[in-house]
Amino acid sequence: MTLGLFDDLPATPQAPECAVVLRGLALPQAAALLQAVDAVTAQAPFRHLITPGGQRMSVAMTNSGALGWISDRGGYRYGSTDPTTGLPWPSMPAVFRQLAHDAAEAAGYPGFAPDACLINRYECGTRLSLHQDRDEGNYDHPIVSVSLGIPAIFLWGGSERADKARRVGLWHGDVVVWGGPARLRFHGVRPLAEATHAMTGALRINLTFRKAG
Ligand code: SIN
Ligand code: FE2
Repeated sequence: MTLGLFDDLPATPQAPECAVVLRGLALPQAAALLQAVDAVTAQAPFRHLITPGGQRMSVAMTNSGALGWISDRGGYRYGSTDPTTGLPWPSMPAVFRQLAHDAAEAAGYPGFAPDACLINRYECGTRLSLHQDRDEGNYDHPIVSVSLGIPAIFLWGGSERADKARRVGLWHGDVVVWGGPARLRFHGVRPLAEATHAMTGALRINLTFRKAG
């Protein structure tokens, strides 16, 4: 994929209603992040959640941190235990916490201390339809989203589902941050094209950090 085919998002916090893309910010920590993902998933394996409407999500998910995002027939929510094991979610690895803090600061949100890290695992063909992140206790804190492995096309929409979405290419190590007036923007991920990456094989791993409680 070449960048020219895509829309762009600013690299500095100049447009408050927009997300910021910090290209390659996570590259130095990528190996440590993926090792930490393995440690988390050894305790809390990836699983395909069921939407409230009864659909199996194509993206596999798990969590680390005091709170984890879950979905089932009862709705979308955060909980302190993994419903699969009944145990607390694995604690948030220090390398996760530090990167989330530093990325938020670089995007103009100092002092970010997430209590939830949703880990998404995308295989080729999987997608995340346009949605808002609105299950958190308040919207005062930003969202920090870290891309690892094979590339994806991120959809950056508007405040209404029907608004035209920009198509933003995201590569291994890229970090997207949005908050403030952009906090409730619709966003999603296009079905992933087939690809392989030296560190993840045919997978994309996304870490989404939030302050949920
Ligand atoms: C999300 O919206 O929860 C994840 C976005 C992504 O995978 O880039
Ligand atoms: Fe989201």
